[in-house]
Amino acid sequence: MSEFDRVVRDRRSIRLFHPDKAVPRSAVVEALELARRAPSNSNTQPWHLILAEGAARERLVTALLDASRTREPSIPPLHDDLNRFKYELGEQLYGSLGITRDDFEARRTAIRLNYRFYDAPLAGVVCMPRGLHHVDSLGVGMYLQTLILGLTTRGLGTCVQMLIAGFPDVVREALLIPDEYDILCGLAIGYAVEDFPANNLDVPRKSIDDTVVFLDR
Ligand SMILES: Cc1cc2nc3c(=O)[nH]c(=O)nc-3n(C[C@H](O)[C@H](O)[C@H](O)COP(=O)(O)O)c2cc1C
Repeated sequence: MSEFDRVVRDRRSIRLFHPDKAVPRSAVVEALELARRAPSNSNTQPWHLILAEGAARERLVTALLDASRTREPSIPPLHDDLNRFKYELGEQLYGSLGITRDDFEARRTAIRLNYRFYDAPLAGVVCMPRGLHHVDSLGVGMYLQTLILGLTTRGLGTCVQMLIAGFPDVVREALLIPDEYDILCGLAIGYAVEDFPANNLDVPRKSIDDTVVFLDR
């Protein structure tokens, strides 16, 4: 198996990090160097990333936790046809933690770990200039995946977090993000707690047959 294949296969969402294991800036910069090679619409490179650590991260986490105590995050609803994926993921994720379907309190507590970036010492916020088209967000997605794989091959774990974007006003204020950027998602970066069950999920994927059509006429 090539190193690339291994990294793609090894990557998975990490939902508990070692809070005190610092992320080397050099590894992050190397991965950022790779990510900026990502393709984008007319080479517009519409990505903008804020990486918060130390006091900045604390400020963000405190603000998100405060907000989540008083209101729900504003997140786009899933299309009806897609709800079963969320349900199945929840079963697998919470099941690995011994949380039953009807234990709403435990599920809420687990979801709230998002706002602590799952204890990752480096908290990323992925942005894009306001008012761009969804075509442009494809470029940001390509940037993000390249960054994530670059971090994975350097031994770092990650989790993309749309829930963080559910409180855009809070994130904006805590990290002084100018109004001209939309906030797309969070990105937790750090070293995984290897034996945490939810860090070792093998989340199923649709088959190639279900998702690709080869046409030759
Ligand atoms: C755009 C996007 C948003 C996501 N938002 C969250 C999130 O808010 N919280 C979370 O724990 N995981 C989040 N994830 C992780 C997905 O649940 C995960 O990628 C998916 O279940 C596949 O699992 P894997 O990453 O371990 O392969 C997100 C992933 C993507 C790409």
